[in-house]
Amino acid sequence: MSKKSASKKTPSKSKKPRIAVLGGAGYVGLVTSAGLAELGYEVIAADLNKERVKRLSKGECPLHEEYLPELISRQLNSKRLSFTSDPARAITNSRVIVVAVGTPSRHDGSTDLNAIIEAAKTIRRHLKPYTIVVIKSTVPLGTVEMVSDIIGRKHKIGKAYDLASVPEFLREGRAVRDFFNPDRIIIGADRARPRQVLKTIHEPLLKRSHAYVSNEKASTIPLILTSIKAAQLIKHAANTFLANRLTFINEIASLCDRLGVPIDDVVEGLGHDPRIGQYYLKPGPGFGGPCLEKDLASLIALAEHYGYRAPFLRAMLERNRSQIDELYRKVRVMAGYPLHGKKIALFGLSFKAGTNDVRNSPALKMAKRLLSEGVEVYGHDPYANKQAGSALTEIKIGTDPYKTARHAHLIIITTEWPEFTKLDWKRIKKLTTKAYILDTRNLLNPKQMKRLGFIYAGLGRN
Ligand code: UDX
Repeated sequence: MSKKSASKKTPSKSKKPRIAVLGGAGYVGLVTSAGLAELGYEVIAADLNKERVKRLSKGECPLHEEYLPELISRQLNSKRLSFTSDPARAITNSRVIVVAVGTPSRHDGSTDLNAIIEAAKTIRRHLKPYTIVVIKSTVPLGTVEMVSDIIGRKHKIGKAYDLASVPEFLREGRAVRDFFNPDRIIIGADRARPRQVLKTIHEPLLKRSHAYVSNEKASTIPLILTSIKAAQLIKHAANTFLANRLTFINEIASLCDRLGVPIDDVVEGLGHDPRIGQYYLKPGPGFGGPCLEKDLASLIALAEHYGYRAPFLRAMLERNRSQIDELYRKVRVMAGYPLHGKKIALFGLSFKAGTNDVRNSPALKMAKRLLSEGVEVYGHDPYANKQAGSALTEIKIGTDPYKTARHAHLIIITTEWPEFTKLDWKRIKKLTTKAYILDTRNLLNPKQMKRLGFIYAGLGRN
């Protein structure tokens, strides 16, 4: 085969391309690596976190994620999945490189792209033609173009490599289900070859021939082929819209509190409009986690870079940050002012139920606020005690809810773990100093709690 036509060769159907995942021990990278291996690809997950790589190579899963532990061990046993702390080896041996490294927020809200830049430089050093570089990390528009400049200093685009943006939409706590049941697949590529190769790679997902877990979706998944720029912005816009929805319902819940209208009736009334829907409308302590606030701040910073103030996005971010003040107002009324010397028990420390992730957790934000007022803060979480204890050493971690509740002047439900609905609340009432509950997740049944003698307050519930 002539050199020219050889360079045009895309992987044949039978020979599936080996895939490297950089950041392969991180949240998105790990789920992506295990998921692609389950789809039948040989995957080398590379990560600089040597400790995590060592644990994963032994089959230990560092994340509390449904289905993930068995998926990892099955794919390690099938020899399709392997882990390495040497990205060079992964890059040299692969023709598709997925970049899933972390893109945290800087203090000014802009995105810290250092890990992406380092990954691009490593790829430049070790890339073997022809390779497709897929940016999966959530990045501000313009980042993939920057990666192209870095790799392009040594390699020719279209010949040695191509680029694509394939954003992910995984939710923590259901990441494996989301990987195998995506609402859509977005392939952002500006040339035909990467578009075709990535379409083929996603075929098993598109056709649902690998619905690893129960198939909750329609028989085929929409595939959106778009530009690299659009794909980057779609991801940011999606998360920002979700943040908008949550900010909205927290605002309405604050109104309901003051107007004496039950929020549950309002949500029920809203949700029957198909343009609104019932989902993602639960009031809470403000949206937390490593993504929503970060992506909102990143989009604001991007807008500012282009000379646009984005007043609505700023208001959204500000309102989410002020949700803690809204809760604190209730805490002072319920626990009694001054708070100094009081004991308050937080039920739930992770940023939401289903995960042990405490990054940007509203529970820890509340704990810090209470500690600054001289409150003795106890906390319990069914899965995130260890993570919370190392993230906030001043919080007193309770090994079970009963010990945590002992002598409390107030219990705050901060994470909506279903385990909390099954507790012996009669017993808890006897353990507390004052039987007060602030339910920031509207998790418990107000009538039942009041029947047990608790003074109960929720959000938009009286
Ligand atoms: C989010 C997006 O949903 C996902 O598509 C994207 O890929 C990553 O960011 P995640 O942050 O894992 O996923 O969690 P999500 O379930 O969206 O919740 C985000 C925050 O909003 C959590 O703090 C959660 O408690 C809160 N939330 C969510 C509410 O307060 N009310 C709701 O109804 C839903």
